Amino acid sequence: MSSPTPLHTLRAGVIGTGFIGPVHIEALKRLGVQVTAICGSTRSARATAEQWGIPEVYGDYDYEAMYRSPNVDVVHITSPNKVHVAQSLAALRAGKHVVCEKPLGMTSRETAKVVAASARKGAPVFAVNYMCRFFPAVLQMRAMVRRGDLGNIIHVQGHFFQDWLLHQTDYNWRVLASEGGKLRAVGDIGTHWIDAVSFILGARAEGVFAHLETFHKTRLRPIGEVKTFAKVDPATMVPYRVDTEDFGSLLLKFGRSAHGFADGVHANASISQVAAGWKCSLSVGIYGTKGSVRWDLQQPNELLVGRRDEPNQVLQRGTAGFSEDVAGFTDYPGGHPEGFPDSHKMHYRAVYQHIASGRKTEPLFATAGDGHHEVRLCEAILKSSRAKRWIRLATPAA
Ligand SMILES: NC(=O)c1ccc[n+]([C@@H]2O[C@H](COP(=O)([O-])OP(=O)(O)OC[C@H]3O[C@@H](n4cnc5c(N)ncnc54)[C@H](O)[C@@H]3O)[C@@H](O)[C@H]2O)c1
Repeated sequence: MSSPTPLHTLRAGVIGTGFIGPVHIEALKRLGVQVTAICGSTRSARATAEQWGIPEVYGDYDYEAMYRSPNVDVVHITSPNKVHVAQSLAALRAGKHVVCEKPLGMTSRETAKVVAASARKGAPVFAVNYMCRFFPAVLQMRAMVRRGDLGNIIHVQGHFFQDWLLHQTDYNWRVLASEGGKLRAVGDIGTHWIDAVSFILGARAEGVFAHLETFHKTRLRPIGEVKTFAKVDPATMVPYRVDTEDFGSLLLKFGRSAHGFADGVHANASISQVAAGWKCSLSVGIYGTKGSVRWDLQQPNELLVGRRDEPNQVLQRGTAGFSEDVAGFTDYPGGHPEGFPDSHKMHYRAVYQHIASGRKTEPLFATAGDGHHEVRLCEAILKSSRAKRWIRLATPAA
């Protein structure tokens, strides 16, 4: 289905030219959004501009200069975690709408400032890139829970497994707490899992019991920075102590949903970046009194429905099993797979339509409050793992 509001009148500026920056650019171009500006290191910003035909180039990470451009309406922040908050606050001050990569920041103290700035009267639209919400299967699970198709939800189970940091020589800035935040596997990918489950249930996690482990206590790193997933010659590496977790087990207690089918649901999830063979497996199972649904991001077009007293079903995206609620979030018919890049496209479409419609569409995307809540949860998870006890979040975040 095509977009009801043409999006080519909105203009985007992207900060960051690493792994995910070009994913944003490609998705925006597929939506017909004009990408007018790019910001990064001088060399990579020029190269990215050249590759994608982006007219305005801001080198030397000079995002403030990009924010002064009258040709940028929406800023996409795809830089490393430690600069997200400063870049977000400056964007809001400059009157730019924002799509900020996750996690929203390094500490809840700093992310609270983004919540406050984005809540001011007349503030621009602010979204955090928890785009897993926009896989059609995730929207379908959400619709099924809200309609009561699964009955009352009893429990949720799943994992987010990757293997790109399995070897001692695998390096990325995320491994360093000073660069990515105190939680790595959980902060980087676990928060995608928690956000997706919150979205499906319509309730936020309010309590956690966690166990975190670092398998590689010492790792080897190259001298200088490398792009995410880049290969480096081990002979040129130096050892360093690791201060973030490789994997973790989470028990979560969710709050009450407005629709009433999810009340105090328990969930358990394993999160790992050292799980050999799994590249990007976000797996969720939602188990209710009438049935269950199970989905894995590595087979994103299929949803398994389980029933006690009837045959189980495999629902295919773009076919009869997927309801009307999902129709606006998929562009290709069944049998023509959509996946990770499409989830970004559908997310940005939702954000840009919200802006273009004067905020008339339902904001299904993660807000600054949702991003802040994930950072608060990460802090509670770390505290729980150290104290070996349940931690409840004191007051709900905005
Ligand atoms: N939503 C998702 O699925 C997803 C996937 C991957 C990464 N991410 C997030 O995107 C962000 C970037 O991750 P990545 O994997 O692309 O990392 P990366 O290291 O591949 O790229 C980071 C980019 O930011 C640039 N940069 C560094 N410091 C900067 C600064 N001060 N100002 C502006 N740019 C700066 C680097 O030059 C590089 O181009 C992270 O926050 C990460 O959590 C999200």
